[in-house]
Amino acid sequence: MPDFPDIPRHIAVIMDGNGRWAKERGLPRREGHRAGAESVREVTDTCIDLGVEYLTLYAFSSENWNRPQAEIKALMELLDRFLSEKAKDLKKQDIRLLAIGQLDRLPEKTRKLLERLSAETAHHKALTLVLALSYGAREEIVSAARALAADAAAGRLKPEEIDCTVFASRLQTAGIPDPDLLVRTSGEMRVSNFLLWQISYAEIVIVKKFWPDFRRNDLTEAVNEYQRRHRRFGAL
Ligand code: IPE
Ligand code: IPE
Ligand code: MG
Repeated sequence: MPDFPDIPRHIAVIMDGNGRWAKERGLPRREGHRAGAESVREVTDTCIDLGVEYLTLYAFSSENWNRPQAEIKALMELLDRFLSEKAKDLKKQDIRLLAIGQLDRLPEKTRKLLERLSAETAHHKALTLVLALSYGAREEIVSAARALAADAAAGRLKPEEIDCTVFASRLQTAGIPDPDLLVRTSGEMRVSNFLLWQISYAEIVIVKKFWPDFRRNDLTEAVNEYQRRHRRFGAL
């Protein structure tokens, strides 16, 4: 594995701006999503080359279910195609695939595909690629709280035993280190219900470009920016 100094162990990306990219070109929004899939490939490859261990991509939020049916359908079809095409590379590139989010809301075909690829790649080591699909951080936190409350009510856990480590172990990201770097494309300065717990101390880099224009050099530049930051974690 390449050994560059100070490479973020975990990069999380809010892949935003596909619709505006398409609009600028007079194309349907679907074409923006299609072009965005190419950025996903390139960013994944770049992470492997840099030695990043975890890459989490926000691909579809809980709130994105409020979009028109036709756009949701197009996104799910593109996701199926992406996963089917990517299957070979996951093996070749030694990528472990994980999915987080309310996966039971996804179409059965997509869910099955995700389950199969996660199982087949569980032992892969070069990069863990986490797809956030039908994902909402508040929902994730509420569901962890509910599981802890159920354990406490059943007498399996004392309320005073609940601390940050115990709480994090009930999130879907249990076992995954918190993101060091959070990148959002398309210039928006907001988090949009993404990994609210996990990004407590992430360095945030906002990039003006729309996601389909975000490529290898843009990720390298974001990592360079991260390397120029001084992380303090509340101390001096
Ligand atoms: C990001 O691009 C992809 C998803 C949210 C699924 P958008 O579809 O949000 O594109 P904009 O932000 O409208 O340009
Ligand atoms: C965030 O983008 C979700 C994803 C990138 C999947 P949105 O486009 O949905 O977020 P808002 O609506 O601009 O906050
Ligand atoms: Mg958007």
